[in-house]
Amino acid sequence: MVPETLAPLRARPEGRALRGEIDLGRIAGNLRRLHAAVEDRGILAVVKANAYGHGAVPVSRALEASGAAGLCVSSLEEALELREGGVRAPVLVLGGLRPEALTLASAHKLTVALVGPENLEDYARLLPEHPVSLHLKLDTGMGRFGFLPAELGPCLEGLLRLAPWIDGVMGHFATSDDPDRGFADRQRATFQACLAQLKDAGLAFSQVHHGNSDACVKGLLDGDTHARPGLALYGLTVLPEGRSLGLEPALSLIAEVARVKTVPAGTTVGYGRIFVAPHTLKIATLGCGYADGYRRDLGNRAVAGFQGRFYPVVGRVSMDYLTVALPPEVDLQAGDPMTLFSADPAHPNSIERSAQLLGTIPYELTCGLHRRMARVYKT
Ligand SMILES: Cc1ncc(COP(=O)(O)O)c(C=O)c1O
Repeated sequence: MVPETLAPLRARPEGRALRGEIDLGRIAGNLRRLHAAVEDRGILAVVKANAYGHGAVPVSRALEASGAAGLCVSSLEEALELREGGVRAPVLVLGGLRPEALTLASAHKLTVALVGPENLEDYARLLPEHPVSLHLKLDTGMGRFGFLPAELGPCLEGLLRLAPWIDGVMGHFATSDDPDRGFADRQRATFQACLAQLKDAGLAFSQVHHGNSDACVKGLLDGDTHARPGLALYGLTVLPEGRSLGLEPALSLIAEVARVKTVPAGTTVGYGRIFVAPHTLKIATLGCGYADGYRRDLGNRAVAGFQGRFYPVVGRVSMDYLTVALPPEVDLQAGDPMTLFSADPAHPNSIERSAQLLGTIPYELTCGLHRRMARVYKT
C-alpha cells in the first residue's frame, strides 16, 4: 500500500541532474520588445501548455509584473492553476467553457471565449447569477472555434442578450507564417466586416485582437487594440525575419553527465545498436530521455554542447537516458553539465535548429518538455 504521507511526484532539482533553465528576465525583455513592435497595443500573453513548457505560474507572474494586459490559456484547469499560483491579471480561456464550468469561472474572475452559437442560451441563463467577461470569437478562416460570418445574423438577438458581459472580440490567423499574405489579408477583411455588422447591431468591444506572434512580427494588426503572442514571448520564431525584433530565447536544457566510459572501436551503444563506435570514444550518459520530452528521433541526429563545442548524441534516445560521443582526449567528468537545447539561436542545438532537424516546429519541442523535469528560474 502507498503510504499516505508519500508526496506526489514533484520536480526536485537537487535530486536529478536534468533541468530546464528559464530566464524570466529574457521573457520580460521579449514582452517589452513586442510592446514596442505592436505600437503599445496591450499584450494578451499566451501561456497555455504550461507556458509552452517554460512553467505556467512563474512565467505568468513575470509577465503580469512586466505589464502584460492579460494571460491566455486553453482550459479551465490551466486557468485555475494560474489563480492558485497567485496570478491576479485577467485570464482568458481561449477554447471556451462548457456552461457547467461557468460557476467556477465566475468565482475565479476568468474571461471566457464565446466560441459558437451552441452556448448562447445556456450562457444567457447562467451569466446574470455567475457573471464572467466574454470575448466573442469569430471564425474568420481557421475553421475550428468561433462564429462563422454567416451565423452572426441569425445569432444577433442572442448576442445582444449577452452584450452586458461581452468585452472583447477575437479571431485567429491560419497562415500568419506564410510569406504569401493573401489568406491572412482575407481573414482580416472578414474580421473587419463582421465587426462592422456587430457594431451596427449595437455591440461594443473594448478589446479587439486577431494577431499571434507572427502577426506582431509582420505588422498584421490593423484595427486591433491588443495582440495575442505566445511563441515570441519565449524568444522563439518560425519566421526568417523573426529575429529582427531582437527576441531572446529564454530556455536552455541542461543535463549533467551521469557516467563516462571510454569504449574501443566497434562498441555499439544503446537500444537497437544503431550506433557503432568507429574508433575509441568517450561515451557520456546523460539523465534525459524521451520521458522528459527530449525526442527519441533526435538520437544519431542532434548535438550536445560542452565548453563551447558540440558533440553528437549517438544511438537511440531511451526513456530516461541518452548518450553523447566525445573524442577520448576531451576532459569530461561525471557531473559536468552538457547543453541539450541552447538558448543561443545560432547554436546547432538551439530549439529552432533542433525543430528544423526533426521537420517540426519549436512549439512542439518546448511544449513537450515534461512536468517531471525540474525548472530553474533566473530573473
Ligand atoms: C487562439 C490562439 N491565439 C494565439 C496563439 C499564440 O500563437 P503564437 O504562439 O504563434 O504566437 C495561439 C497558439 O496556439 C492560439 O491558439
